Amino acid sequence: MTTTASQAVPRSSSSRNVLSVRDLKVHFTTADGVVKAVDGLDFDIASGKTLGIVGESGSGKSVSSAAVLGLHNRKYAKVSGSIELNGVDLLTLSDVEMRKRRGREVAMIFQDPLSAMHPYYTVGNQIMEAYRVHNDVSKKAARQRTIEMLDRVGIPQPDRRVDDYPHQFSGGMRQRAMIAMGLINDPGLLIADEPTTALDVTVQAQILDLLQDLQREFDSAVIIITHDLGVVAEMADDVLVMYAGRGVEYGPCREILTHPEMPYTWGLLSSVPDVKGDTSARLIPIPGNPPSLLSPPPGCAFHPRCTHRDKVPGDLCRTELPLLVEGNRGPGHTKRCHLANPEQIYETEILPEIAPELAKER
Ligand SMILES: Nc1ncnc2c1ncn2[C@@H]1O[C@H](COP(=O)(O)OP(=O)(O)O)[C@@H](O)[C@H]1O
Ligand code: SF4
Ligand SMILES: [Mg+2]
Repeated sequence: MTTTASQAVPRSSSSRNVLSVRDLKVHFTTADGVVKAVDGLDFDIASGKTLGIVGESGSGKSVSSAAVLGLHNRKYAKVSGSIELNGVDLLTLSDVEMRKRRGREVAMIFQDPLSAMHPYYTVGNQIMEAYRVHNDVSKKAARQRTIEMLDRVGIPQPDRRVDDYPHQFSGGMRQRAMIAMGLINDPGLLIADEPTTALDVTVQAQILDLLQDLQREFDSAVIIITHDLGVVAEMADDVLVMYAGRGVEYGPCREILTHPEMPYTWGLLSSVPDVKGDTSARLIPIPGNPPSLLSPPPGCAFHPRCTHRDKVPGDLCRTELPLLVEGNRGPGHTKRCHLANPEQIYETEILPEIAPELAKER
C-alpha cells in the first residue's frame, strides 16, 4: 500500500501558511538506479513560526529544502507534488520566475558558509549583490544597507569588515554574514540547513540566539534543519521527523518531545543527552545505519532497526508502509507506525530508561 497526498495531509492548508508542501517527491536518476531521496513529504509553516526538520544524515532533509529553493537540476531530479510559497506552487514556475523569488521570498543559510561564499569576492560584495539582484539601488545604498545588516548580526566594526574576504572572518562571523545575506531582502521564509553544526558549542548558542532575535524582528518563517534534537527543543514550534525520505512524525514541538509515538523518534530522543541533566538517564544509540535510498527496505523503512516491530501482529512492519495518520492524542500530531499502543510503550519502556526522574513524576 502506498500513501497518497490526500491520506497524508497532516494539517489543513491555511492562508496564513507561508509554505505548504504536499506529497513532495524528489527522485534522482543515477547510473545505479533511482534514488528516492524524498518520497512523499507534507508540512506547513506559518509566518513567524519555526519548523525543525530532524533526522539522521541521509534522510532527505537537504534535498527537500533544495526543492523549496528550486535548486534541483530538472535533468537529473524528478520533483513532484506541490510546494506552495505564499499561495504559488513553485513547481509550476519557470527557472527565471523561480530565480526572481529565490533570495527575495525564500532564502537559505548553509552549514558551511566558507563553501557557500565565493573566496575571491569580499563578504560585503557578496551581500550587496544578493541585495541588488532584487532591489534597484545604487552601489552606495547597497553598501550602506550591507553595513547595517552586518552590524545587526553582530559583526564588530562593520564599516571596515565589509571589505574583508570570507577567509578573514571566523567561522561564527561567516555564519553571521550568511544570516545577514539571507535576511537582507526580508524574505518571508528562511531555511537554515544545519547552520551551527560546524561551530563550537558557545558560538552555536550565540548563532541560535541571533536567529531567534532576527526571526522576531523580521517576522519570517524559519525552517531549521538539524540532526540535533537539542536545537529543535530550543528553537522550534513544530517538528518534522524524517526517515528515509519520508516524514515519520510531525506536530507541535512540545507534543512530539513529550509524547512521541514513533520508535524512530524514541531512538533520536534516546540518543541525545538528557536535557534536564538527569544523571541516571541512559544514552542509547539507535542500532544500525540509515538505509540507502536506492533500495530502501520494504514496508516501514525503519523496520530493520526497530526494536518494537515484534509488537505489531504478523509481518506488517516488513510488508506494509504505514500511512501517516493522526496520533492517538488527537489532531495536529501525525505519525507513521503500525503500533497500536505507542503511548503505553513509551511511558513504560522508553521514558524510564531515558529520563527516569521524569518517568517517576508522571
Ligand atoms: N544529486 C543527487 N543524486 C543522487 N542522490 C542524491 C543527490 N543528492 C542527494 N542524494 C541522496 O539523497 C539522500 C538524501 O540526502 P540529503 O537530503 O542530503 O540528506 P540529509 O538528510 O543528510 O540532508 C542521500 O542518500 C543522498 O545520497
Ligand atoms: S511500523 Fe513497525 S518497524 Fe516501523 S517504527 Fe512502527 S513498529 Fe517499528
Ligand atoms: Mg543535509
